[in-house]
Amino acid sequence: MEFSLIDTTIQQFDGDCVVVFSNSEVANDDSNIQQLIELNHFESKSGTTLLLNLVAGFKAKQVIVVGMDKAPNTAKNYTKALSAVSGVLDSLKSKSVMIQALDVDGFDESWVHRTGARVLQNATYEIQKLGADKVDRVLENIAFQSDNDNAHELAQGHAIADGMALTRHLGDLPSNICTPSYLAQTAQELADEFNLECEVLEEADMSTLGMGSLLSVSKGSIEAPKLISLSYQGNGNAKPIVLVGKGVTFDSGGISLKPGVGMDEMKYDMCGAASVLGTMRAIAQIQPAINLTIVVPAVENMPAHNASKPGDVVTSMSGQTIEILNTDAEGRLILCDALTYVEKFNPEVVIDTATLTGAVIVALGKHHCGLMANDQDLADDILAAGKTSLDTAWQLPLDDEYDELLKSNFADMGNIGGREACTVTAACFLARYAKDYRWAHLDIAGTAWVSGAKKGATGRPVPLLTQYILNQIN
Ligand code: BES
Ligand code: MN
Ligand code: ZN
Repeated sequence: MEFSLIDTTIQQFDGDCVVVFSNSEVANDDSNIQQLIELNHFESKSGTTLLLNLVAGFKAKQVIVVGMDKAPNTAKNYTKALSAVSGVLDSLKSKSVMIQALDVDGFDESWVHRTGARVLQNATYEIQKLGADKVDRVLENIAFQSDNDNAHELAQGHAIADGMALTRHLGDLPSNICTPSYLAQTAQELADEFNLECEVLEEADMSTLGMGSLLSVSKGSIEAPKLISLSYQGNGNAKPIVLVGKGVTFDSGGISLKPGVGMDEMKYDMCGAASVLGTMRAIAQIQPAINLTIVVPAVENMPAHNASKPGDVVTSMSGQTIEILNTDAEGRLILCDALTYVEKFNPEVVIDTATLTGAVIVALGKHHCGLMANDQDLADDILAAGKTSLDTAWQLPLDDEYDELLKSNFADMGNIGGREACTVTAACFLARYAKDYRWAHLDIAGTAWVSGAKKGATGRPVPLLTQYILNQIN
């Protein structure tokens, strides 16, 4: 699908379909539309739509009136309206569509374009059923009404949606296909397509580096572990932003086996990995003047005769020892070695993203990602990027009192801190390996996928991460 800008009135647009916002000035100015809105008793509420055919005075054959709550138009209502429009466009089989200009409260026109393109493109994502043919899309062009001819923001929105599509696709794939090797292959394909630098460490390499913690998780699985790095260089030798993504391609819990109900959803336990790969895809397409490296520790967590057992003690790459009190707290065990490994990139900042704790869903539900950081400026930048991208985070504390809960009698730390503040103690564990740089952690267990009838990966936090990165360019 292509996005463009068009400087014409809604009446003069000679494509297939025009989208008109019902509480905007222009719509109310068009008396024909106004009459039809009244005739149809259309209730102008956020997310409602009314399809009008052959409206007098319009060159396009169809007009979609989309309801907005009373002005000022909020960002949330704008994206809600676009999602509703995208559903109608699917059924209309239109080829070319124009979207009426709209003021969104608190945001400028470039935001309206970038976000509009992202939301509309992301709405075209379809879960690919195994063996089924890809459906051909009829919609070819969406033009946003504007007297500006800078289409840069549309390209950004499109790139972010393309990144989200990769993230969603990887998340939705079952764990018998999306293995650690499959993630490594995906990274290699991205490297080939966008001319990035890719390195994949094998089990023996990790063993040489002393990654006893990471390898303790993978050893019970037949799937070989991989440590994947992918670098985009857009700014010479500047220090890179480093993103680390948890890549547990299936989390059975290991010997501390999870209950059976809903266990299929643990195929999503690589959504951190998928989101950093998706962010890399978006950035490689946008080509900004920054350096970005992503690192993905990829493993499968299985019970087996040779799997780690509760009480086992392992030595991490940092030299710190860990008593594995629960083999289901495996995410931190692979992330800690990845966090030590990234020191070699001399990072400007490190942000990890992980489906780390069920407790973050209890605390924040499905709306905000949990954010914890060892640097408040970095946390503030991430919170701001979340607000701009509508892919929000909410900060949780990281005080020393929580860290004390990790005490072990048999090693430098245990890998769990008990029932209280699980999300925070998981982050405290990671913080012990992220001492040498500015670091933030996003717990995306709640936001990375939805359950129920609409089960699937969401593509979050690709919008947040990409926005954060783009904000770093002065
Ligand atoms: N991958 C899970 C976290 C998770 C749970 C994500 C539910 C999404 C939905 C993680 O590896 C895990 O099992 N965490 C445990 C930690 C506990 C053993 C300290 C949890 O949250 O229960
Ligand atoms: Mn687990
Ligand atoms: Zn897990």
